[in-house]
Amino acid sequence: MVELRDKLLELEKRTALLEPDAKSRQILLKHLEAYSDDFISGLENGLSFKPDQTNNRQDLQIDGKSTHSFEDILKIYREEVDQPGLNPASGGHLGYIPGGGIFATAVSDFIAAVSNRYAGLYFGSPGAVRLENRVIDWMKKVCFYPDSSLGNLTSGGSIANLIAITAARDHHQILGAKVEKSVIYLSEQTHHCVHKAVRIAGLSQCILRNVPLDEQYKIDTLMLRQLLEDDVDNGLNPFMVVASAGTTNIGNIDPLDDIADIAEEFNLWFHVDAAYGGFFILLDELKPKFKGLERSDSLVIDPHKGLFLAYGLGAVLIKNQKAMLNSHHYRASYLQDASKNDQEFSPADLSPELTKHFRGLRLWIPLKLYGIDVFVDALREKRGLCLYFLQGVRKMGFEVGPDPDLSVGIFRYVPEKGDANEFNRELMNQIHEDGRVFLSSTIINEEIWIRVAVLCFRTHVSTIEKSFEMLEDCLDRTRKVLK
Ligand SMILES: Cc1ncc(COP(=O)(O)O)c(C=O)c1O
Repeated sequence: MVELRDKLLELEKRTALLEPDAKSRQILLKHLEAYSDDFISGLENGLSFKPDQTNNRQDLQIDGKSTHSFEDILKIYREEVDQPGLNPASGGHLGYIPGGGIFATAVSDFIAAVSNRYAGLYFGSPGAVRLENRVIDWMKKVCFYPDSSLGNLTSGGSIANLIAITAARDHHQILGAKVEKSVIYLSEQTHHCVHKAVRIAGLSQCILRNVPLDEQYKIDTLMLRQLLEDDVDNGLNPFMVVASAGTTNIGNIDPLDDIADIAEEFNLWFHVDAAYGGFFILLDELKPKFKGLERSDSLVIDPHKGLFLAYGLGAVLIKNQKAMLNSHHYRASYLQDASKNDQEFSPADLSPELTKHFRGLRLWIPLKLYGIDVFVDALREKRGLCLYFLQGVRKMGFEVGPDPDLSVGIFRYVPEKGDANEFNRELMNQIHEDGRVFLSSTIINEEIWIRVAVLCFRTHVSTIEKSFEMLEDCLDRTRKVLK
């Protein structure tokens, strides 16, 4: 026993490194502060995209033996991680769906990590669970969902969609022989994570109907009704329709209210993917476009997109408590103490996760610090910047797609001679080579279109004007290459 005690004391000494003293912590924090100041101040004039030239150097490898100073580690990080590829913190990130990462997210994550509250079960950390539930309550109000609905804070939109689709599956009992006869209605503009969720939820043998789109690339509800009637006549089992409130490609909102009518009539689970666009509902001038969202059975809305948080926070709201609990609630024997006296729903009963990052804090702190108005103004600015961008490129001779509902637009250059797709493909190469501003492209009806997605809180008028300069230069270079 004495021998064991001595060994343990020796091990305790050897592991002291894991609990740095106040002075050592100060040193780490000083380097951290210097790194973040340097990083943020470099954003304004830095590149938004840099082709990878680091070539997988040795520095990232771990041999488990050699150790480094924190300063050296940050140097490796700066060169090997910060430099190559897309910089999502940059205001010049106008591709995919940006967000930016407000500083308050970093501070909140820091506190969550230092205190390491266990936000999975109410028993373990009632305060943390309560806090997350209040964040969800706030989102219910934003989306005009009833107080009785449930929600979960996820790592992002993909998992949030998965949770909703699983609940829909279980609510409609899509099991066994029923799977092959069951029909899901979506569109070619539905985000691909919904398709992944359908597969992961074991529904890949369901019939997936891509509802045709109208000229605004929104679900054509006449066609939806027609498809449903045909499917019912043919003895199939329609059970879910998925609409988008802000498609990734062009930022448009499907006609939610009309779809809600149809969903009610045909007893469908109505799911809305508002991962990108959801928070635009906060703008009074855009509220009418979201009419019908409140009638959905479930929705996804991502603070790491529309509220500019650093990556790592999506959310799902589901109206039917039983449906959500049916899919995710579980009681293990070793958790028997944890279910006593619950006064709140626990995240672990509403998602596949048990232990999880205390991610609610990264939204709670910014909302408490700043209030919501500044976010609303920022969203209004982003939408305006998208329109300003599209006006500018139209003036430069680009063809511009349909007027965007939100802050994503599409445009392409149609040269007098030659193939437009070839031209825009080369133009995209030039844009990525240049890197001052990052844009991404998409294919719509076999045509290559360039997307502009304004959602980073650091994007301002000066960024859009920098894009115009960059596009002029890239057009010149493209013409030279294709001459
Ligand atoms: C409309 C939409 N839904 C879902 C997702 C997936 O979200 P995440 O990347 O957070 O998993 C995205 C991502 O851009 C999106 O735009």
